[in-house]
Amino acid sequence: MSPHQGSDAPRSDVESIEMRMLLEAVYQHYGYDFRKYARGSLRRRLWRRADAEGVKTISGLQERVLHNPLAMDALLMDLSVNVTAMFRDPTFYVALREKVVPILRTYPFIRIWNAGCSTGEEVYSIAILLQEEGLLERARVYATDINERVLERADHGVIPLERMRAFTQNYQRAGGRSAFSEYYKADRDQARIDRSLLENVVFAHHNLVSDKSFNEFHLIICRNVMIYFDKELQDQVHELFYESLVNLGILALGNKESIRFSSVASCYEELDPEEKIYRRSE
Ligand SMILES: C[S@@+](CC[C@H](N)C(=O)[O-])C[C@H]1O[C@@H](n2cnc3c(N)ncnc32)[C@H](O)[C@@H]1O
Repeated sequence: MSPHQGSDAPRSDVESIEMRMLLEAVYQHYGYDFRKYARGSLRRRLWRRADAEGVKTISGLQERVLHNPLAMDALLMDLSVNVTAMFRDPTFYVALREKVVPILRTYPFIRIWNAGCSTGEEVYSIAILLQEEGLLERARVYATDINERVLERADHGVIPLERMRAFTQNYQRAGGRSAFSEYYKADRDQARIDRSLLENVVFAHHNLVSDKSFNEFHLIICRNVMIYFDKELQDQVHELFYESLVNLGILALGNKESIRFSSVASCYEELDPEEKIYRRSE
């Protein structure tokens, strides 16, 4: 491990300058804008990548990334943090079923945006819940992410069988109504998600930093994404979500995220404050 990885605070002014220059270079050359991501976690990830590339400074990493697109791919994988799980935080899905589903039921056609869907486990969970509630057929779920590589995996719908065993417990705790194994086919050490669950799911590239609103949704689920953004970027994305919700539409965030101190806090009511589920006021 690099001696730089221990703390989140920049070691020196020089390091801050190097970080700013690298992020600017990545933006100018590749169009990925990480300039307003939270500094502490960015710093750790940049040093991790610098170590993996065998370079001694952030400037060294900048040179590597600018001249080698494969190094950029690797950096993107590190910076976009793709950790996810099916029925992650099971109590969130209990709240979704009890408090959000009755509202969704009132719409003849339901549009949902799962922003920052990573490798798909979250959207598979949403689809299963909708299916069990008899709502999947009249729903369209847009699952988006900045990272094309994880989107391809999400669309593929194949998960190591071992992970499915852990997800089974989450599913049960989330109030699942069937046998979890009904939703996938085991094929040696892989599980193939039942394709019928994905018929109404559209996977698409969308960057929350630079892309605009693309529809009006009844429900937006964006969990464990904004935690990596600084306050200014969080406010910008909150405004994008506000614009993208129908009147009385619902916004669901991750455990460690909140609408509270954002620029749009007064435009929402709390539907389940514990589970960070909010409803746009009229
Ligand atoms: C930690 S994962 C969360 C996955 C899932 N929402 C969950 O809670 O399990 C964060 C995801 O946000 C995506 N992401 C990061 N920055 C983004 C951006 N600017 N626009 C869209 N997605 C982004 C990453 O690629 C990653 O897949």
